Amino acid sequence: MKRTPLIAGNWKMFKTCSEAVETAKRLAELAQKITHIDIMIAPPFTSIALVSESLRNINSRVDVGAQNLFYKKEGAYTGEISANMLKSAGVRYVIIGHSERRQYFGETDEDICRKVRASVESNIFPIMCIGETETEKKEEKTLYVLDKQIENGLKGFRSDELATLVIAYEPVWAIGTGNTATPEQAEEVHKYIRSKIGKMFDFSLAENMRILYGGSVKPDNISELMSHQNVDGALVGGASLDADNFIKIVNFNK
Ligand code: 13P
Repeated sequence: MKRTPLIAGNWKMFKTCSEAVETAKRLAELAQKITHIDIMIAPPFTSIALVSESLRNINSRVDVGAQNLFYKKEGAYTGEISANMLKSAGVRYVIIGHSERRQYFGETDEDICRKVRASVESNIFPIMCIGETETEKKEEKTLYVLDKQIENGLKGFRSDELATLVIAYEPVWAIGTGNTATPEQAEEVHKYIRSKIGKMFDFSLAENMRILYGGSVKPDNISELMSHQNVDGALVGGASLDADNFIKIVNFNK
């Protein structure tokens, strides 16, 4: 089966409500004629509902995502947001276990596993991020690190529960550094991830799963990345903040 590419924008902690709505509308306008690619933007929590609402009004095919969630259904967890709340704000995808969450907020593989479960239970597509740091790469531990992140992050799942799972391979050394992995490096790692999922679950799940690359993706390197068989899309940070720039990435095959 052919996998539909997904080009996803992670806006991180950028944009006020009005800036987010303006960018989303501009993107929707630019993306009007695109049919063969899934597009997602993940604004900060504060503007998710507004962005969803503004896109619904213009019947856009740009999906809205969140950058995180908390795995409990509800309760006294000051400052946290549940999967159900995201669902009610129009969210279709949620980014889970981004390296910045792991690094600055102490998220563990166990937290990530619970978050993947919470999103699946609320019918939100999880985008689970994995990737090695620069030191781990230098020590040739990349595959070992990815193995642990995948095994622990997806512990206890049945394969039918993971039908909507997207994996994003984001080498930490490539995020925001301009130092993108070469397309060959990305392809090799993606191939490894797919075969790992095949062995842990089943091969048809692995064959249908989208594996995105993230880390300094730009309009001028996306085509080559996407030309590889196991690269099914991108998770884009900085270059997704401007709609006119992001659309060039979405239009990678033009
Ligand atoms: P950059 O595209 O800015 O390197 O960020 C990548 C990223 O972290 C996406 O989640």
